[in-house]
Amino acid sequence: MANEKGGTGKSTTAVHIGVALALAGHRTALIDLDHRQRTSTRYLENRWLHAQRHGLTLPAPDVAVVADGEQGEEELALRLSQASSLDFIVIDSPGRDSVLARAALAQADTLVTPINDSFVDFDLIGDVDGETFAVKKPSFYAELVWEARTRRAREQGRPMDWVVLRNRLSALDARNKQRMSVALDSLAKRIGFRVLPGLSERVIYREFFPRGLTLLDRAALIEFSLSHVAARNELRALITGLNLPGGVELAA
Ligand SMILES: Nc1ncnc2c1ncn2[C@@H]1O[C@H](COP(=O)(O)OP(=O)(O)O)[C@@H](O)[C@H]1O
Ligand SMILES: [Mg+2]
Repeated sequence: MANEKGGTGKSTTAVHIGVALALAGHRTALIDLDHRQRTSTRYLENRWLHAQRHGLTLPAPDVAVVADGEQGEEELALRLSQASSLDFIVIDSPGRDSVLARAALAQADTLVTPINDSFVDFDLIGDVDGETFAVKKPSFYAELVWEARTRRAREQGRPMDWVVLRNRLSALDARNKQRMSVALDSLAKRIGFRVLPGLSERVIYREFFPRGLTLLDRAALIEFSLSHVAARNELRALITGLNLPGGVELAA
């Protein structure tokens, strides 16, 4: 999960994907590179406490915080070199440029970039004309990804699947949504990413945090009622849409 902007839902998405993979029985680790906020770590700590308190079994990825600095770089490299004992590693990057975020980017099979449906967020990947909303050129983050992908293809002979998630979509904003669709589709063709709908804007995603629950947990359904079936379906569609290497079988 990466882009250089805070508040786009990287950590929320990282935890939901990590837990979904663990629930599906995959050996999964989550590496939290945002060593100051530690949102995904805190989320999973809350999950563990909630499970203890209520005698629940709540599968979760193993989580480790890796901090900036030389030691951190070594630790990240070590953890990634041990990847063969795992099925998936989910990496949650901070909303800023960092050496570790770039190192993680270089290794990613799938890069997930959540953006809010806002031209302020879009500006990281593309520069849009103020009159026509046409994309004039890719911006700095798209260029960074482009370089990482090119180097990866050259050095490792492996492609990187780049998925831009339209996160926190609301039912309102029809005009802005339409303009974002046009801009995203045009940039997607130009620089080669896929666009997927992410998690729509729902209070439930904020309420879950203190208990560390996700939409795929049965415990969450009991507590938060069945009205969230639509939200569960959107999460399942997201994970299926990511088309992760090796495939993921989500339980019913
Ligand atoms: N789909 C969503 N619906 C509602 N609130 C969300 C959603 N996704 C994230 N949030 C909220 O938005 C804020 C930023 O999310 P977070 O996952 O921490 O983003 P990032 O890691 O990119 O900074 C948090 O308050 C989080 O609870
Ligand atoms: Mg975060």
